Amino acid sequence: MDLAQYIISKNVLIEKRLNELVPERDVPYRSLFTAARYSLLGGGKRLRPILTLATAEMLGGNHDSAITPACALEMIHTYSLIHDDLPCMDDDDFRRGKPSLHRAFPEGHAVLTGDFLLTHAFDVLVNDCSLSSEKKVRLISILSRSSGGDGMIAGQVMDLESEGQLIDLSTLRFIHNSKTGAMITAAIEFGCIVGDATEKHSSILRDFGRNIGLAFQIMDDVLDVTASKQKHGKDIASDVTNAKATYVTLMGVEKSQEMAYNLLQEGVQQLKQLPLDVSLLTRLAESLVIPRI
Ligand code: IPE
Ligand code: IPE
Ligand code: MG
Ligand code: MG
Ligand code: MG
Repeated sequence: MDLAQYIISKNVLIEKRLNELVPERDVPYRSLFTAARYSLLGGGKRLRPILTLATAEMLGGNHDSAITPACALEMIHTYSLIHDDLPCMDDDDFRRGKPSLHRAFPEGHAVLTGDFLLTHAFDVLVNDCSLSSEKKVRLISILSRSSGGDGMIAGQVMDLESEGQLIDLSTLRFIHNSKTGAMITAAIEFGCIVGDATEKHSSILRDFGRNIGLAFQIMDDVLDVTASKQKHGKDIASDVTNAKATYVTLMGVEKSQEMAYNLLQEGVQQLKQLPLDVSLLTRLAESLVIPRI
């Protein structure tokens, strides 16, 4: 299947399900749901949910039960972006092609909308009728670990604390693996759980997720200095303004691109160990890194 077509068709499904999971509500606190829908709908590449769907499908046909877990991941990711943009964090005014949530709504609403999407993601998993209780517990465990204090949040804390600091490569790798790699690996793990992967296959796919997750964040650092605001859909040069420690500040644009490409190749080699049709996942991984070089 053509990759662009695949991505478009999955985006339609994801958008539809997110729309159902976070409807407008006729309640006195309706502004919360309006704000959540502002950030969640109609924007974003949907990379993480697409990885979940593609992994589950690769493991065994059409897995309708992957869509709600995939959307739960996207909710957590969107919350992380809302908070990441706040004045007390990266202080960015533009996200997903429009003003950041705290620029379109009061700042308190942005904090609380992030909180809502975080908690709602778990609610949505718990109430998903298409999953067994055992699978729900495994998904919740992965989601809480990868987005929590030893995962995405750990990376975000160290990212803030490294502003203006000269840190070494292994510390930076830890930050990137945590703030971004953990959630991308979780997307693959979600696909493994829904698709009933064996432990051996899950382990290979996790390694693949770690490699492409790191490659993706390295390329995000590169795009901060090379992309246009229009194309990127978010503020550029934000890392420079905030004196962030990034792969670009540590090793420059070209070496960073080379490193991302090598990580991608490593990931692709890992996929080849699987006795499955890995062509779609391979092309998806390439699309995350190569067009961005
Ligand atoms: C942005 O993620 C934050 C990073 C981890 C680099 P994405 O580049 O996937 O953002 P959206 O979801 O497409 O907006
Ligand atoms: C953020 O990394 C990763 C998150 C957990 C949100 P960045 O701060 O580099 O993401 P962007 O560039 O603002 O999207
Ligand atoms: Mg940040
Ligand atoms: Mg940021
Ligand atoms: Mg960035």
